[in-house]
Amino acid sequence: MITAQNEIGSDFDAHSTADDVLTDLDLTGKLAVVTGGYSGLGLETTRALTKAGARVVVPARRPAVAQEALSDVEGVEVDELDLADLDSVRSFAGRFLASDRPIDFMIDNAGIMACPETRVGPGWEAQFATNHLGHFALVNRLWPAIASEGARVVSVSSRGHHFSGIRWDDLHWQHGYDKWQAYGQAKTANVLFAVHLDRLGREQGVRAFALHPGGILTPLLRHIPKEEVVANGWYDEDGNPIPQDGFKTPEEGAATQVWAATSPQLAGLGGIYLEDCRIADPAPAYDEATDITDRVGVNKWAIDPEQAAHLWTISSELTGVDAFA
Ligand SMILES: NC(=O)c1ccc[n+]([C@@H]2O[C@H](COP(=O)([O-])OP(=O)(O)OC[C@H]3O[C@@H](n4cnc5c(N)ncnc54)[C@H](OP(=O)(O)O)[C@@H]3O)[C@@H](O)[C@H]2O)c1
Repeated sequence: MITAQNEIGSDFDAHSTADDVLTDLDLTGKLAVVTGGYSGLGLETTRALTKAGARVVVPARRPAVAQEALSDVEGVEVDELDLADLDSVRSFAGRFLASDRPIDFMIDNAGIMACPETRVGPGWEAQFATNHLGHFALVNRLWPAIASEGARVVSVSSRGHHFSGIRWDDLHWQHGYDKWQAYGQAKTANVLFAVHLDRLGREQGVRAFALHPGGILTPLLRHIPKEEVVANGWYDEDGNPIPQDGFKTPEEGAATQVWAATSPQLAGLGGIYLEDCRIADPAPAYDEATDITDRVGVNKWAIDPEQAAHLWTISSELTGVDAFA
């Protein structure tokens, strides 16, 4: 069985901003946790949610940088979290749970992209460990705060999930590393995580979504060598961004994750992949030559329930956490 990716219509589109999405919503009394909520899309997500009245907890790898970036935003709390370090995940979750507050919107936004081969923890590949396993452990540890009717978990994936499905026989790229395929695997894992979490959390009233935010020039490019950035036409030789058709502003880029977390249009739904503030179509069949930038919709390897369940089992074994065991 494949999760239904059925268009339901949307009041918003690729050029809606996070503020647009929240225009008619009052989030007073709601609490969000936004990983990486102090840079790029996360920063705009935090800004929009607080502007609509929500309180936002921003667990940050670099708390001082986060404090500085959020100094003009009211209603924010910064705490410390390194997703690549499971002890740090456990500590943050423990501090948060001790505050005895429910989480209405859990937005798994933080991520790294196409870094040189890097090992963390017990030799795990850094993109899979940070983007997927860290968020897996975080959500499972925070589950007592998330598990209530109406809460949503949002997993920020990417069109990059088309680069690779899950490499079941070599999850940590021990047999040859490709930085873009490793990003692809991690982003496929983000979608599969939402698919299975939705299945598990539904009985407790929690729904989960995954999404592609669009293409947006942010510090996410930090690991890409300058010559590759220039060759791709993202920045010129002097470091100036080159305007491109189809690229979004950070305010537009934050819209789909904010829509996923809050939209009444998504009530009763979950386990689906979104893009441009709408439910994405299943991707058409591509041949190998199709450029990644032409790929739209969600690849079937990212929404397959059996693979989602299998990844959940492996992730719980690797991290030692499973709120549903
Ligand atoms: N921008 C795009 O075009 C695009 C496209 C598709 C998908 N996405 C996805 O959107 C999400 C946000 O990306 P962005 O463009 O906003 O990038 P960004 O500006 O680089 O923000 C990423 C955030 O993740 C944090 N982070 C990185 N490693 C971490 C760790 N080990 N522990 C905790 N936090 C960590 C970063 O903190 P530090 O700054 O302290 O490292 C930063 O706050 C990512 O998941 C990305 O894959 C982006």
